Amino acid sequence: MVAPMVTTFLILFLATQARGQTTNDVSWAKRVDTGSQVVTTMQFYFHDTLSGSNPSAIKVAGPQSSASSPGGFGQLMMIDDPLTEGPDKKSKLIGHARGMYGQAAQNELGLIMVLNYGFTDGMYKDSSFSLLSLNPAMQNVREMTIVGGTGLFRLARGYALAQTYWIDASTGDAIVGYNVTISTYI
Ligand SMILES: *[C@@H]1O[C@H](CO)[C@@H](O)[C@H](O)[C@H]1NC(C)=O
Repeated sequence: MVAPMVTTFLILFLATQARGQTTNDVSWAKRVDTGSQVVTTMQFYFHDTLSGSNPSAIKVAGPQSSASSPGGFGQLMMIDDPLTEGPDKKSKLIGHARGMYGQAAQNELGLIMVLNYGFTDGMYKDSSFSLLSLNPAMQNVREMTIVGGTGLFRLARGYALAQTYWIDASTGDAIVGYNVTISTYI
């Protein structure tokens, strides 16, 4: 008589504990389990280096003539950009953004971003999300779409808010701050 009641209580208690649970395994991300979904918020920095002997962003294709397209319409870059916890490049490495971006707008700066953000830190190790969006790079804050993911980001949908932290106008080297919100079911 008593044992089933205790068991029921225990199950209810554990279920309540799981809901609304916040996980702060790493300093740059927070996971909140609301019961029906998990909302992960992240803040990290993206280092896009075009200059020097070991650039993380290289031009892989471009139009034969760019004379008529001041924004470099048609230029395509392949990147393997480190993601760090803080804006300093020497701060903790937490992953890499790998993929491509290309100048897809004729009369303004509009980059089509096709990127995998793969993580190597803490519980997010081997989890990734995919971003597929136009980046209106001249805007102060750029909102971009997250369309899916792997590992802890399975069935992800979400968005990233990107804001340039630092840019060298002559080389194009940049450090970009990312605030990401993702919801998943696991
Ligand atoms: C990103 O989040 C930080 C901390 O909450 C905030 O100070 C900053 O304004 C946010 N940036 C953007 C572009 O949303």
